[in-house]
Amino acid sequence: MKLAEEISKRKTFAIISHPDAGKTTLTEKFLLFGGAIQTAGAVKNNKIKKSATSDFMEIEKQRGISVATSVMGFQYKDKLINLLDTPGHKDFAEDTYRTLTAVDSVILVIDCVKGVEAQTERLMEVCRMRDTPVIVFINKMDLEGRDGFELLDELEEKLNIKVRPMTWPIGIGATFKGVYNLGDSSLNLFESSKTKISKDVTKISSLNDPKLDELIGTQADQLREDVELVEGVYDQLDNETYLRGEIAPVFFGSAVNNFGIQEMLDQFIEIAPTPRARETNEGEIDPERNKFSGFVFKIHANLDPKHRDRIAFLRVCSGKFERNKFFHHVRLDKGLRFSNPTSFMAKDKSVIDNAYPGDVIGLYDTGNFKIGDTLTEGDNFTFKGIPSFSPEIFKEVINNDPMKSKQLEKGIHQLTEEGVAQLFTARMGNKKYIGTVGELQFEVIQYRLKHEYGASCSFSPLNFYKACWFTSENKEQLEEFTRLKSNYIVYDKDQNLVFLAQTAGILQITKQNYPNVEFHFTSEFKTQAV
Ligand code: G4P
Repeated sequence: MKLAEEISKRKTFAIISHPDAGKTTLTEKFLLFGGAIQTAGAVKNNKIKKSATSDFMEIEKQRGISVATSVMGFQYKDKLINLLDTPGHKDFAEDTYRTLTAVDSVILVIDCVKGVEAQTERLMEVCRMRDTPVIVFINKMDLEGRDGFELLDELEEKLNIKVRPMTWPIGIGATFKGVYNLGDSSLNLFESSKTKISKDVTKISSLNDPKLDELIGTQADQLREDVELVEGVYDQLDNETYLRGEIAPVFFGSAVNNFGIQEMLDQFIEIAPTPRARETNEGEIDPERNKFSGFVFKIHANLDPKHRDRIAFLRVCSGKFERNKFFHHVRLDKGLRFSNPTSFMAKDKSVIDNAYPGDVIGLYDTGNFKIGDTLTEGDNFTFKGIPSFSPEIFKEVINNDPMKSKQLEKGIHQLTEEGVAQLFTARMGNKKYIGTVGELQFEVIQYRLKHEYGASCSFSPLNFYKACWFTSENKEQLEEFTRLKSNYIVYDKDQNLVFLAQTAGILQITKQNYPNVEFHFTSEFKTQAV
């Protein structure tokens, strides 16, 4: 098959949500539709436990599970779909953000009772930075949730995106009767079923069709009124605007009841982007370019000290990846070949011979890769847009065993290079700060330092709100800022200066005091300053 054909078949996306909104359930239904699993419960059984206990075996188990479910490939109709997992519970980490740099679009799941929640906003900020196209699924319509219009308003306000409902709910909770498809005037009447994968839709000629009153009784008038309002308020979906990430189609349904999902999946394969051109330091690289290229967005280490292997997750961006062929590791200026590259179809890992743009492959690594590394077929460009994101939890590293200082130093450097967390160092002295976006990472670091490097450390909490990379064209002001705020300015792993703001208020005041200094929440500044 020609490269262009392979590309046109692929859709690579992630499902994002606040914990408990229904991401796992929806994933499972997708896999059922795709025939990748046969029974409901297969993903669920693997589900990362939401326990609050910090048990190291648990960490190990979770890491094991998350490698198995990191990428799930399945076929739906004539499309090959790669679904990338975004860890969301206790294991929420920078990895979660970075996974979003490797997808071409996302499906956002919202709980209709809770609306837009904190984690949703954080994840969507990353999507908005990259203008990633978004489809929204409003879930749990079988529960007594909030009014549809109110939810849409909240989506637009909090997520800074326009929305367009594609289906409209008839009632909610106890009165939920199903959804009306605004595109083809069909009704999908609700019937709770956890395994059903076909849908029975009823066509009506128009909203004035008396059949509607027969089917949903007194709720028909409300539906007519709602639809009139929808058509009056929301613009039609325009594919280009969706692809630019400016408008998000919205579907209503119930994942656990397998309701309203097929409509969304059908629309998804219709409109979601196939692999697109990606930016490098030498301009855009088209997926159809004949020469292979890709980047590493995640590194997974085995916590079992007996198996020190690591897996680097590489997103193929152009050309064709081939097993056992020498490729060019740009940062190290070194040729590497891979005898056991793996793909991830549902739960099984299997060795592959070829991979195409949009695919994510696992490369066994003995320490050659860092997050963001580019692999090419001889070219020297590097992919952009795989930044470090500002951590939200900061702690100082305390060495518990001065005899093992070297081991600690080495371990911390290697683990942070892997992307487990970010390391900041004081400009004077030798203080080291670790920053993460999730608590679990501190336990992972402690555990791995001990088991892999024989070093023991503890962490002392620090009160910082965000790490801000900063820039300025005004040299004088930059110097003054760096001098006067020196107690709060540290180095990141690449020796860039970073300002650690204690609170949002302090950051605000600092910005006012230094109007010519720009502050950024990521290490790549192509996005606007905060
Ligand atoms: P997550 O991955 O986003 O964290 O969410 P998950 O799918 O695990 O769903 C969270 C809970 O919400 C689960 O219940 C799940 O069954 C339930 N759920 C998902 N979709 C719907 C829906 O459409 N309607 C209703 N009423 N519930 C839904 P749980 O009790 O936490 O887990 P389980 O015991 O059912 O596995």
